[in-house]
Amino acid sequence: MSTKKKTAGAAKAAATSPIRAPFISLETPGTQLVLARRGDIWTFAHLGAKCAPADAAALAAKRPFRDDALGACTMETYPAFGCDRDSKTHEWCEKRGALQVRHSDGDESVRWRCVSARDLPAPNGARHIAIELADQKHDSFRAVQHFIAWGDCDVFETWVEIRNGEPGAVALSRMYSFCLETTGLAEKFHLMSLSGIWASEATVAESEIALGQETVLGARSGVRDAWENNPAFFLSLGERATENTGRVLAGALCWSGAWEIRAQHAFTHELKLTAGVANLTGPYVLDSGASITLPKFVFSWSGAGKGAASRALHRWARQHRMPHPGARDVLLNAWEGAYFDFDEAKLLDMMDGTKTLGGELFVVDDGWFGRGKFARNDDRVGLGDWFVNHEKLPRGMDFLAREAKRRGLKFGLWFEPEMATMKSDLLVAHPDWFLQESGRPARCGRGGGQVVLDMTNPAVRDEVFRMIDQTIRETKDLAYIKWDANCDINNAGSPYLGPERQGNLWFDYTTGVYELFARLRAAHPHIVFQACSSGGAHCEYGFLEHADEFWGSDDSCAQQRVFIQWGEGQFYPACAMAAHVTAVPNHQTGRDASLKFRFDVAMSGRLGFELHPKNMKPEEVEFARRGVEAYKRLRPVVQLGDLYRLASPYEGDHAALMFVSGDKRRAAVMVYGLGRQLKHGRPAPLLLDGLDPEKRYRIEEINLVEPGKGLHVDISGKTIGGAALAAAGIAFDLAPGDDSFVLELTAVGR
Ligand code: DGJ
Repeated sequence: MSTKKKTAGAAKAAATSPIRAPFISLETPGTQLVLARRGDIWTFAHLGAKCAPADAAALAAKRPFRDDALGACTMETYPAFGCDRDSKTHEWCEKRGALQVRHSDGDESVRWRCVSARDLPAPNGARHIAIELADQKHDSFRAVQHFIAWGDCDVFETWVEIRNGEPGAVALSRMYSFCLETTGLAEKFHLMSLSGIWASEATVAESEIALGQETVLGARSGVRDAWENNPAFFLSLGERATENTGRVLAGALCWSGAWEIRAQHAFTHELKLTAGVANLTGPYVLDSGASITLPKFVFSWSGAGKGAASRALHRWARQHRMPHPGARDVLLNAWEGAYFDFDEAKLLDMMDGTKTLGGELFVVDDGWFGRGKFARNDDRVGLGDWFVNHEKLPRGMDFLAREAKRRGLKFGLWFEPEMATMKSDLLVAHPDWFLQESGRPARCGRGGGQVVLDMTNPAVRDEVFRMIDQTIRETKDLAYIKWDANCDINNAGSPYLGPERQGNLWFDYTTGVYELFARLRAAHPHIVFQACSSGGAHCEYGFLEHADEFWGSDDSCAQQRVFIQWGEGQFYPACAMAAHVTAVPNHQTGRDASLKFRFDVAMSGRLGFELHPKNMKPEEVEFARRGVEAYKRLRPVVQLGDLYRLASPYEGDHAALMFVSGDKRRAAVMVYGLGRQLKHGRPAPLLLDGLDPEKRYRIEEINLVEPGKGLHVDISGKTIGGAALAAAGIAFDLAPGDDSFVLELTAVGR
């Protein structure tokens, strides 16, 4: 997402070949999106299983455009307020659509004509097309709509650039990225999404969208925009899809700021699905000669339930979204083991513990920066002052990084680049560098003094970049950064934007953050970033373009994490899901759980620790050490394999999931009791999924507290065929309470 000045005017698409056919077929391995030309515009003709594009277009042509009080269904690929189509029977005015503008002459309507459709160069067997649209009256007001169909996963990306070549500014009051308007998909629609709040992220919610109703999902924090609602969903077309049955449209908006997703089920079974940024305080002013690139929307269609749609999004994320391919390190983050209470000796002690446990990376969290009266020893001061607190860490960060290296560990550091406390050198020197409502006292967040920096202001970004860049350079071998963000835009005003452009705040804030992120990454491409925002509020694909993982929740309680990770895993891959073993009683919930249970739960994501290893008993250290070894062996399967969900924690007394390697030679199965199991209850056998029915698999129960003892399955050590494991399943026992087990499957023979 970006805004570029002075690039508008006639589109200079990096054209390869103009498309002259009356339809465009965009294909992924299992699905097809067909766009059909109707007069001046392009329409959605088909999204679903593969079929001959000409046939799909011919059938779609028989479905009427229609109009009603709620707005028209034009099936246009990018409908705008005021679109006017002659369907030979009547004309109408589109009232909702994806875009609404006020032109420089005050006219509020857009009636598109297609200027061109072109194929653009695309990587990896993908197809990338761009459709350029011009307003019929204001020819220099243009939109370029992009679609990419990935040849190696069933995912489509789409986004839109708006170019204002008019003599004056254009005000955009709605500027969505995507609008699918179509008839004939189904007579019922069910929307599944994730809902939550701090320490309770990603609760799965699903219901039918009744006839005539519209469901609106959204987030208005401006920063923590993946908590309350996550910008991703499954829409079942017809009856509610299960893991393996039903037609599903999965979608995700790649955006970290305020957003909206709307799904409307009109009386005649039209579906109107829109997704995009939310303008919370007025229209976006797009200057003459400027252009704006709206966030990407990614979508996937599955004819075989939600599981396939999840796997498609996971694969896309691993292969095309996140910066670094490959498996992630096992780390220990110092936060829950130390909070603000640490010195050099304690950190070195924790590093030793990390090494003993088999960790690969040690991360210093909040509290290492600020100086004098603003030394960051609690959350009231020092935020924004990104230089080492030498009183606390006299030999600086480079010393700690070298000590980590000496122990064979990588080294990571926490930052909160978008924020500052009023009590900081930064804001004392620059009182106009934070978001504030003109003439009103600031509402402060965390610690009573935290505010959000004005990331629309390039000078602010420059200074934050300078400080962080300098710390990275001084630390030398810095390998990892946790990027945190713990406050909403509570004061909706930018001193930088001036009175005429306050409506630009929500969009420009987020693009400013992305610009800073991109600059840091360009300067230090090897650094792996974690997206964190008061726990899981950056579990979304906007940040995951720059970050390789997200912190799923500050609720590290294993029993709760079963649900949180179940929710986040619907849309986001295991390699990106930081899951840490923490101490008991859990710091958020006060609950106890065995180390094995905590370990087994964390093993279904990117395993890490967040405790002081010194507080572990010797037998716990021994168990954890063996567990880390096992995890490293299974890591390529869990982090880079395909996820199959076997039993939902929402539906029974246990949860079960498994990961299968791409070549189907290896798998890992994880089962978690939810504490409700009865003493003599026997769950139904676990029907495995995703295995090769022709292969035989050796099954080993791992992560046992005492080797060879306490098995949950009778077939550990046996070899069974993939077909039987799927058809007859594995019988297992789960004791009442927090019981769990992990199976490792390895194909034998060919
Ligand atoms: C909120 C994060 O979610 C925590 O993991 C931790 O980094 C704290 N911030 C530090 O202030």
